[in-house]
Amino acid sequence: MNMVLKNKIFLAPMAGITDAPMRRIVYEEAGADIGFVSEMVAVNAISYKNAKTYRIADVRDEPYPVIVQLMGSDPVLFENAAKLVVDLGACGIDINMGCPVRKIISAGAGSVLMTDEKKASQIIEATVRATALPVSVKFRKGFDNENVNAVSFAKMCENSGASFITVHGRTKTQGYSGTADWDIIQAVKESVKIPVVGNGDVATPQDAQKMFNQTGVDAVMVGRAALGNPWVLKDMSLFLKHEPSAPVSIKKIYQTLLRHVQYLKDYYGAKIALGLSRKYVCWYCKKLFDAKKFREKYMKITDFDFALKEIESYFQTQISGEIK
Ligand SMILES: Cc1cc2nc3c(=O)[nH]c(=O)nc-3n(C[C@H](O)[C@H](O)[C@H](O)COP(=O)(O)O)c2cc1C
Repeated sequence: MNMVLKNKIFLAPMAGITDAPMRRIVYEEAGADIGFVSEMVAVNAISYKNAKTYRIADVRDEPYPVIVQLMGSDPVLFENAAKLVVDLGACGIDINMGCPVRKIISAGAGSVLMTDEKKASQIIEATVRATALPVSVKFRKGFDNENVNAVSFAKMCENSGASFITVHGRTKTQGYSGTADWDIIQAVKESVKIPVVGNGDVATPQDAQKMFNQTGVDAVMVGRAALGNPWVLKDMSLFLKHEPSAPVSIKKIYQTLLRHVQYLKDYYGAKIALGLSRKYVCWYCKKLFDAKKFREKYMKITDFDFALKEIESYFQTQISGEIK
């Protein structure tokens, strides 16, 4: 069956980052056009109802559709996990066959599955069997330069029942370095009938347009460019519709960072939120004046409420500088 993808732009799944607070911010700032995939969820942990993993998979409270991404190596556990995440509110299931992390690969999961198409197929078939939800697969160009098999892998996904696929144009060996190969994404698109999402190095609205034009993909997926910049996704969406976008004011950055940190507190509690907020402070303030000095100061803060006050006073000077 050929599925129509509703979203032209997806926020990429990023473990430790694209959690419920981040998705909420992106939804509020970039709008309902953006598609969401959760952080990866280990099928063994979810089958044993590990509390932390279970919570990552639980998207029932979110007022927008979320695809939950599963990671693992055992088809039976995928089948069990697929049934469970349906009850936890997933609108679709994505299977992680692209993760380059050593611990995950040595457990037979993530990108190493690209070297075993038979096993990968069994996992997809088991997941498809377990649910009526669309099942997608996210994978890479190949495992390494000697094993570039994205095209045959894509065909295998299609034949195994995947509703759509996402291709990151780097090999596992490349990790996140070098440039993403968009030619392989085009080759994949030309080889299957199911929709293809292109991923890798889409950082600006112009990149997004270029990815569509050059590869013919049905949607693009954006990861690192959205860190501290949820507005880039909105700008992409507007650009694709030939609509203008407005520059983001420092006040807007301030309000959004503050809200993001607050959402982190609501979700994780003050202590964990403070730790997590450090990376968001770096990302949101990256291009602002005296950011390095502020970052260094912020990293030493040990009290959540004090952190909020420090963000406020840093931005007060930024905003008055902007008005002058
Ligand atoms: C910190 C980090 C965590 C990631 N976690 C996941 C993950 O859980 N699942 C997944 O499929 N990809 C994961 N990725 C890969 C991204 O989804 C994406 O494929 C990659 O960043 C390339 O896209 P970009 O060039 O737009 O960043 C992660 C990437 C980063 C940087």
